[in-house]
Amino acid sequence: MNEILKEIENLRKEIEHHNYQYHVLDDPEISDSEYDALFQRLLKLESRHPEYASLDSPTQRVGFEPAKTFTEVIHRQPMLSLENGFTNKDILDFDTRIKRFLKDSHTLEYIVEPKMDGLAVELVYEKGRLVTASTRGDGFKGENITSNIKTILTVPLTLITPPDGTPVPELLEVRGEVYMETREFEKLNADRREKGLPAFANPRNAAAGSLRQLDARVTAKRPLNMFCYGVGQMSEMGFNTQYELMIYIQQLGLRVNRPHMNVCQDINETIEYCLHVEEIRHQFAFEIDGAVIKVNRLSLQKELGEKTRSPRWALAYKFKPTQATTRVLKIDVQVGRTGALTPVAILEPVLIGGVTVSRATLHNQEEIDKKDIRVNDTVIIQRAGDVIPEVVKSVTTKRTGHESVFKMPEKCPVCNTTAVKKGDEVVLRCPNSNCPAQKRASLKHFVSKGAMDVDGLGDKIVTQLIERGFINEAADIFSLDFNTLLELDKIEEKSANNLLEAIERSKVTTLPRFIYALGIRHVGEHVADLLASHFKSIDMVMKASEEELVEIKEVGPQIAESVVSYFSDESNIEHINRLLKAGISFEDIPASMGSPIDGMTIVVTGSLESMKRGEFRELVTANGGRLSSSIGKGTDYLVVGESPGSKLQKAKEMGIKIIEESDFFKLFDS
Ligand code: IVH
Repeated sequence: MNEILKEIENLRKEIEHHNYQYHVLDDPEISDSEYDALFQRLLKLESRHPEYASLDSPTQRVGFEPAKTFTEVIHRQPMLSLENGFTNKDILDFDTRIKRFLKDSHTLEYIVEPKMDGLAVELVYEKGRLVTASTRGDGFKGENITSNIKTILTVPLTLITPPDGTPVPELLEVRGEVYMETREFEKLNADRREKGLPAFANPRNAAAGSLRQLDARVTAKRPLNMFCYGVGQMSEMGFNTQYELMIYIQQLGLRVNRPHMNVCQDINETIEYCLHVEEIRHQFAFEIDGAVIKVNRLSLQKELGEKTRSPRWALAYKFKPTQATTRVLKIDVQVGRTGALTPVAILEPVLIGGVTVSRATLHNQEEIDKKDIRVNDTVIIQRAGDVIPEVVKSVTTKRTGHESVFKMPEKCPVCNTTAVKKGDEVVLRCPNSNCPAQKRASLKHFVSKGAMDVDGLGDKIVTQLIERGFINEAADIFSLDFNTLLELDKIEEKSANNLLEAIERSKVTTLPRFIYALGIRHVGEHVADLLASHFKSIDMVMKASEEELVEIKEVGPQIAESVVSYFSDESNIEHINRLLKAGISFEDIPASMGSPIDGMTIVVTGSLESMKRGEFRELVTANGGRLSSSIGKGTDYLVVGESPGSKLQKAKEMGIKIIEESDFFKLFDS
């Protein structure tokens, strides 16, 4: 090999080695000036010999020219989030749930580590080289932030072979949290204030803002760091536990939070360790908002699998929330999409953990009475993560005699209909399904991110559209036109066009999103997923009886009743038909959802008993498959219905898998 190239490559290796010693191990082997000399020498050689440029070079960490936009990265496996627990009991319940699911009451080993308050990132290494880094995004696709991530000196550009000779994996998707240390954050803010720039609210925002910079040279100047906590897809290496896996990840040169990673022999030890971490939470150099508990054995993680948004094998134990004292200015009553009337305390704005809070939920009259909260009271409020802030208690010693007791109104504050209470529910409801407040809340839900995801159709626009009588129910959104939108305040041509485009885009959706968007009581995202994958088409969900519904694991009588009652309301059926007529269609559920026919080509012969051809096609496509009209080499399954035709013979001759209609549906049950 050419001498120059050899020197360049040696310098790159040497510099990365010293980066690792210094930044990851905190154990430098050379002085700063020796390091600088190596770096300058490399820079010089690379600038003289541009033909040897490489994206893996440590000199490339400083960032490139600004990008115009972030491109999209599809995660091979969705990046899930975590279920939260707040008490010891929540942790015990988690252990009980797992044992019940596994049908095994033996003691389980857990691994616990601090939950960093930063942002989730995925790094993809192919043959040991960092090829892509992306944000979590919506879990399925994120933004490509490779150049920004490369500026973090503790992120290796190439992986190291572990000392015991275990090879570097062909493919490794490693996930972790990018964060900013508290002291670095304070320094950065002080510096910004001095320059007259706005300060960041908290280290997490500072980290997010720094990472999502189109100009990676800005990111390079920000003190970011990363801890890895898990893997997505990875070549099979035969590890037994999460702990072994994390040690291996560390040996590859990635940074893991080893000193605070603890394997606990059972759930009691787990609780103890979580409480210990909570006790020392302020001793960490970075902000943590909880401890993450994971089943240690990887085979059990696999067996436990995941729910829609979170794995069954992990729990985020969230620390006691941060509290603050403020005053209740008044109490408003809010009307939700199911008509629930919720009292909301309007507060003198107060800062809790970097976020200004000016409203807090009071839940219902019983809660208000129990906590004896009055208008003008001084109160303690708390905020836990992204949960709505709530009032903990009133500080009665601060009372002056100017406080007034609050009573929920007898009528809906918006439409004046007399409010009702069902059975032994504590919640008061407005029974008028035409109540404008309910409509507004349902519409907001319909267009929200997890539902139809109509970008740009925010609160203010929805309110205006309803108030001016332009829309009355969700289906009306799809007949909005340009001129109508232009009549709204603060909308000009460009945003009107963008909004129309977003509305059009939202028409292509998935069945679970659509079911969730309908806003049926007790049907959240997870239940919507269950219904969609069980019934496969909206027609079948609409026809389902309570008996059929409760057959689904995780669907109880309360959900079943609510679903049936929703679909027995004629006006709801009419509305759904209007929505479908407007052109709503259902596309593939992301292949990563583990569909049994993902990527397969299916052919049908004969007439199907359970559904029309069109519905069958929808089901196949929704599960990542393709329905084809003729048998060929690429056919994966021939589904046989009543009185099959010549395709059956052909399939037999070609050795294609033949499956009865009913057996085909059973594929989805497992
Ligand atoms: S494990 C399936 N471990 O918390 C997700 N997550 O609320 C497995 N987080 O999106 C995540 N520290 O970004 C895990 N030690 C840790 C973590 C951690 C912070 C974040 C992560 C995740 C979020 C969920």
